[in-house]
Amino acid sequence: MKPLIITIAALVAAGNLVAQNLPAYLDDTKPIEVRVEDALSRMTLGEKIGVIHAQSKFSSPGVGRLGIPELWCTDGPHGIRPDVLWDEWEQAGCSNDSCTAFPALTCLAATWNTELALRYGQSIGEEARYRNKAVLLGPGVNICRTPLNGRSFEYLGEDPYLSGRMGLNYVKGVQEQGVAVCVKHYALNNNEHQRYTSNAICDERTLREIYLPAFEAAIKEGGAWTLMGGYNLYKGQHACHNQYLMNEILKGEWGFDGAIISDWGGTQSTQEAIYNGLDLEFGTWTDGLSMGATNAYDNYYMANPYRKLIEEGKVGEEELNDKVRRVLRLIFRTTMNKHRGFGSINSESHVKLAQEVGAEGIVLLKNDLVGKTKKQAGSALLPLDLKNIQRILVVGENAIKMMTVGGGSSSLKAQHEILPLDGLKARLAGTGIDIRYARGYVGDPGGEYNGVTTGQDLNDARSAEELCKEAVEMAKDADVVIYVGGLNKSGGQDNEGTDRADYALPYGQDELIMALAEANPRLVVVNISGNAVALPWIDCVPAVLQDWYLGSEAGTSLAQVLVGDVNPSGHLPMTWYKTLDQCSVHAPVLKQGRQKVADPRRYPGIERQDSTVHLWDVYYDEGLDVGYRYIDKQKFAPLFPFGYGLSYTTFSMSDAKVISSTAKEVKVNVSVTNTGSRAGAEVVQLYVQDVKSTVERPVKELKAFQKVYLQPGESKTVTLTLNERAFQFYDVAAKDWRSEAGRFNFLIGNSSKNILQKVEYDLK
Ligand code: BGC
Repeated sequence: MKPLIITIAALVAAGNLVAQNLPAYLDDTKPIEVRVEDALSRMTLGEKIGVIHAQSKFSSPGVGRLGIPELWCTDGPHGIRPDVLWDEWEQAGCSNDSCTAFPALTCLAATWNTELALRYGQSIGEEARYRNKAVLLGPGVNICRTPLNGRSFEYLGEDPYLSGRMGLNYVKGVQEQGVAVCVKHYALNNNEHQRYTSNAICDERTLREIYLPAFEAAIKEGGAWTLMGGYNLYKGQHACHNQYLMNEILKGEWGFDGAIISDWGGTQSTQEAIYNGLDLEFGTWTDGLSMGATNAYDNYYMANPYRKLIEEGKVGEEELNDKVRRVLRLIFRTTMNKHRGFGSINSESHVKLAQEVGAEGIVLLKNDLVGKTKKQAGSALLPLDLKNIQRILVVGENAIKMMTVGGGSSSLKAQHEILPLDGLKARLAGTGIDIRYARGYVGDPGGEYNGVTTGQDLNDARSAEELCKEAVEMAKDADVVIYVGGLNKSGGQDNEGTDRADYALPYGQDELIMALAEANPRLVVVNISGNAVALPWIDCVPAVLQDWYLGSEAGTSLAQVLVGDVNPSGHLPMTWYKTLDQCSVHAPVLKQGRQKVADPRRYPGIERQDSTVHLWDVYYDEGLDVGYRYIDKQKFAPLFPFGYGLSYTTFSMSDAKVISSTAKEVKVNVSVTNTGSRAGAEVVQLYVQDVKSTVERPVKELKAFQKVYLQPGESKTVTLTLNERAFQFYDVAAKDWRSEAGRFNFLIGNSSKNILQKVEYDLK
């Protein structure tokens, strides 16, 4: 026994010796700040400059000499992007980089389910971890200011509170995996049109109340480890190195201790990058001299030009050290955190989650009673009454088009993608129902991004008339027609780098839908898009579903809702305007002779004529009147209001009352009952209305919500919590949030228009 005891003692002693000799930065029993300082003290100037800029399209070097690993980033935000070549955007052609494509973030927002947002974060974080990525470039939390914005599908809707709650849960989920999020694109990056030269001109109160809260929540409550600066400018200074946004607000007021990452190519100046907060430079196409040259990383603004300034004594090392500390902190939190898990990819649970989010985010916009045959008279078209259906006709390109490829940097290489037509066929297999398909229109037959191709050949040489005629003829003898159309991810639609040219559906779809509705009134329209679109035929179609981009399990999720396996419970995260001029950004406010027209100042902005710098000034003249706030003020009836969504069951709300109130928190209870015959979920929304205020405030603002699941006949009491911020406005003169004592109304309902309960409350 003795020799064994001696051996163990010797091993323990040796272990202690190793621990004693371990440099502090490698000793994870030490506080992170101690490790950061120790690592920093060991680094040379070259190594410090090295870690603050890219060495390839998506990585920055660590410090090999010190055993500090490289840092790899990946897009984001709804799946892990396939690897690209070291120095090119072209995909690397790997055979191990396919992923689960989760539904796009607008769909996640439409679930109004914060627990689902957390699980979404956990799952995508696991995929990032498995692929050895330290930073996931997402979530996107820019506010949907105009439905024309090509990137809305990557964001969480129009409301700062909804975006904030959903975003911070995504953040928490990802970072639990030891993977950093990169909250993007900070800030006021609300259009793709002229995105590199758009200069947002936005008043302080609007900035604070509309455009910053989702970022603030992700940083202060979610604890995000990195953030990405936008391409646009604010106050004439590029957002990636913007004194006010980065130093004063983010790092100053909010106490952000993480790293600011530039958008890819968003860095424009060494001086500003040094002093205005940027910590990590990625994607720069460098200056005119080396533009386009490969491996130009040494010429990055924060590479040799920065080093030279320090060596010449023109700039000190203080700012550099701060940047390096932040990068080291990021590395210790991620790649050098040996307690994090291993991650997993394309696991059964990820695929199931994608399916669940997809089905829960689909919004039932309309479901009127129809009756063509006697048997079915007076019943809603959805869910499909399978017992009484022999033949279904599916029409439309989006029923057969892969949507995970395209759209810009969020494009994916999904391990699989179930298309709407295939999902329906799989679900109805064995029922004997005959499912036919007619193309109806040709939109974008392509499918390629950075060398990843869908492999689909969607070319069809027939004319629009021929395609329409075929669909209409086939519609005539179908029991139900399911039209699957909308937008896609090609240029000028839901796509990075371009905005939509107008609000209408492309490819002659409106005419086609009208013709189908005439041929067969039992028509369900499934609109796939990341944005609201004009629906001029809405009165002629009994059932409409909003389907977003649902990723790997798109077809399964849709089929579940169509047949009623899942009762739809998605609610709109943005206003669905009847016409574009209902949106404040496009409202007719400018007098032109006797007519009023939209003001180009608001969108697309005014190109500066008087300057050597090429800039587009975009004036946020509408101020706080974004989305439903403008609709409320104008008392407009939108096509579908913010927060709206139907179900296959019905709900009622009653007994709303304040149950407790302190200076910090007010709790409100409301009872919700499922009054129909199917299990389902309702989204309880609480809007706060300041009855009397010395400053102008929106009519009402969303400040709490909760999704509640109920069996038929079941009632539950939902508790909604309002914190101090729920009552406050941003006081520009005081530079702080402030509320005024007095009467507030709590307006509770299931959309911003359908208010079912009102509680009066006096704030002391
Ligand atoms: C996009 C970012 C993206 C980055 C890297 C940029 O063009 O704006 O959202 O994360 O590229 O692909």
